[in-house]
Amino acid sequence: MRSTRSLSDSVAQAVTEAMSTALPPQVRDRDPLVRRSDHADYQSNVALSLAKTLGRPSRDIGGLVADALAAAKDPVIARCAVSGPGFVNITVPDAVVWSRIAARRADARLGVGLPLAGRRIVVDYSSPNIAKQMHVGHLRTTVIGDALARLLAFLGATVIRQNHLGDWGTQFGMLIQYLDEHPETRWRHDDPDTTITELDTLYRRARAAFDADADFAHRARARVVALQGGDAETVRVWRDLVEESRRSFRSLYERLGVLLEPGDDAAESAYNGDLDAVVEDLTRAGILVHSEGALCVFDPEQSGPESRAPLIVRKADGGYGYAATDLATIRHRVRTLRADTILYVVDARQARHFDMVFATARRAGWLDDSVRTVHICFGTVLGPDGTPFKTRSGANVPLSRLLDSAVARARAVVADKDPTLDEAALAAVAEAAGIGAVKYADLSASRVKDYVFDLDRMVALRGDTGVYLQYAHARIHSILRNAAPADLRAPIDTTLPLYRSERALALLLDDFTHVLADTARAYEPHRLAGYLFTLARTYTEFYENCPVLKAPDPALRANRLALCALTGDTLARGLNLLGIAAPQRL
Ligand code: ARG
Repeated sequence: MRSTRSLSDSVAQAVTEAMSTALPPQVRDRDPLVRRSDHADYQSNVALSLAKTLGRPSRDIGGLVADALAAAKDPVIARCAVSGPGFVNITVPDAVVWSRIAARRADARLGVGLPLAGRRIVVDYSSPNIAKQMHVGHLRTTVIGDALARLLAFLGATVIRQNHLGDWGTQFGMLIQYLDEHPETRWRHDDPDTTITELDTLYRRARAAFDADADFAHRARARVVALQGGDAETVRVWRDLVEESRRSFRSLYERLGVLLEPGDDAAESAYNGDLDAVVEDLTRAGILVHSEGALCVFDPEQSGPESRAPLIVRKADGGYGYAATDLATIRHRVRTLRADTILYVVDARQARHFDMVFATARRAGWLDDSVRTVHICFGTVLGPDGTPFKTRSGANVPLSRLLDSAVARARAVVADKDPTLDEAALAAVAEAAGIGAVKYADLSASRVKDYVFDLDRMVALRGDTGVYLQYAHARIHSILRNAAPADLRAPIDTTLPLYRSERALALLLDDFTHVLADTARAYEPHRLAGYLFTLARTYTEFYENCPVLKAPDPALRANRLALCALTGDTLARGLNLLGIAAPQRL
């Protein structure tokens, strides 16, 4: 494995060197601001940013840089020229472009290096609640978290996935008590999906009883105490609930193509033994305040404590809640898991919770400057009416049902496109397309914004959809299947001129490394999704303008096939990093 330098990096280096000969010392190590250009391959915008500092017209500065760049005769620069207010337009030699493509083509990692090697990154994601179905609210955390886990690992980080299952809390007293009083309830089934649906129903009944019947509520609370006290029978039922729920989550993860495995489960209850120590640490740090019987941490920046609710570490009844557990996660992830970065992929509505948890962890001394904690927040999935997506009766939409309808919708689209598919092939393609469509729609939307869940748009063959990308990838494979093996094996001829659409495609392929780095830096999968969409479109334009299998000359044919193959591999890798299947045939 050898990483291939990006052309834009090579160009940036050449411009930096030119700056150091042409410009005064105080601005020599400025960012050369190299970007893709509409007028050439790249442009440097540095002159415009220096006009004020240097007190000279930007066009003059651009001229100085361009002259020095031309004089340096760097092999990565074919031509450069100043334009407009001082942009330096730069063209790269065709042979250099071809040789970078050849280098990426020759590497299983497509020339992408391991910039995150040595890093240890915890990704807390999915984290559904025991005895409840995963619903649309768990879609984003699961899909975004998984994409980030894949990408960060590909870039060399040691990624530690943590599925913070909600398996603890007063609701279990209610559920177990209800089961005890209704022994006829048969909630366990062979099919994990049915089991979790039954549990979900049961949960609602138990909740209704709890709200309506004060005596039941009282017995349910006693059950919580029994659970926390380790009463054997109560614990046994609780364990059953946890195990059966995990089984159902697992089957959903498999269907979704999510990496999470049983070993990644780090449930809330796993921190029970740490909670007293959390309180001790906070006490020692002097930040715990007794307030109405509870132990709280107040925001030190806030003068009037009543204006902002504190973090409640221990409730007045002595019980620990969600906040205490999350404090314990930080302690554990820093001390035991040795993380340098901890990502919490959780709904934006919990922003304040994480703000306070992170701040408290810093004050407690669990977090120092060498460790970053980031709340990877995301917006809400909306229904067609622009309010949070719900069923007609106002309930949360179960994730499995949502996937079923996406697959059904995709099936119609796929069958229409290729009526010759037999039942087995159709079912497989529909599954890949339907699941991919849902994931892509989620990942291609800017993470912090809400988006409208619109199945028809998601499964469309045209437009910015997963199905479109999967077809683009499969079409490339059909071309490669029809190519002569000798043409596929032939090395790239770097002496051939690059045609306009070949060039656009080649420069975009070269950008893959940068896009992955950007995506990882911002923790924003939509950057990668957007790149893949542009890549598929640029490829289509190339394919319409440049005959591949019918290219007149064998060297030209081989070069174009290499562009096709690298595009196919880049699409497949990109989709894989988003957690989306890229079948070779559709
Ligand atoms: N179980 C919670 C929910 O379904 C999400 C937990 C997120 N992770 C965390 N460390 N707080 O809303």
